[in-house]
Amino acid sequence: PRVVAVIPAAGVGSRMQADRPKQYLTLNGKTILEHTIDALLHHPLIDDVIVAITPGDAYFDQYRLREKPIHVVDGGKERADSVLNGLMSLGENDWALVHDAARPCIEESDISALLELINSDEVSGGILATPVRDTMKRVKSSTNVISHTEDRDGLWHALTPQLFPARLLKRALQNGLSQGANITDEASAMELEGYKVAMVNGSPANIKITHPADLPLAEFYLKQKFS
Ligand code: CTP
Ligand code: MG
Repeated sequence: PRVVAVIPAAGVGSRMQADRPKQYLTLNGKTILEHTIDALLHHPLIDDVIVAITPGDAYFDQYRLREKPIHVVDGGKERADSVLNGLMSLGENDWALVHDAARPCIEESDISALLELINSDEVSGGILATPVRDTMKRVKSSTNVISHTEDRDGLWHALTPQLFPARLLKRALQNGLSQGANITDEASAMELEGYKVAMVNGSPANIKITHPADLPLAEFYLKQKFS
């Protein structure tokens, strides 16, 4: 089947507190967004790449990203809106592989492991994830006092890429958004619809660049990837 990568890249990066959206910060001489686009373009099993950017985004042209063999769509208000815009041109039998622009350290082998789910009869797609490593605390709502310690066993960090049949994902995101549900990743929309979603153990190097301290760490992982 055809696999289309959809990259939501229309965020403002408020937690990074930089002079521009974080996807346009440079790591080892290349923007974060370009690292991410290139990783997906170079994967042998990905047929097409669609990037959702903020309408009028001047950085995208400044860094000549429009010259790459990709398709560009407008991003939306929330991440789920950006992803949905990216899914609009996908065909009935396509698979959507959604991957955050802010995760440039994605490794080819992790994408390949996720794509093996296409052959599964048990699940309707799945996500990369990594087990939580810190002790997890639940806090009494609107206080900073601990209520209890969560059982870490069975708790995972949801990463991207996340892989689903485009037709099912489109409907799940539309339903989730119209119900006002908190849709922070593709799997959450699919879970709400009752689909079985697989967890694939992925590399913890596949961080989402969020805070300034993540930048040197990502540069380190990217250097490792190419050495
Ligand atoms: N994203 C998007 N459209 C939005 C919001 C986010 O395409 N309306 C994208 C971001 O560009 C990023 C990914 O979704 O690649 C994950 O979001 P996040 O890490 O939260 O990025 P930002 O929303 O930009 O950062 P912040 O939440 O700190 O503002
Ligand atoms: Mg955000």
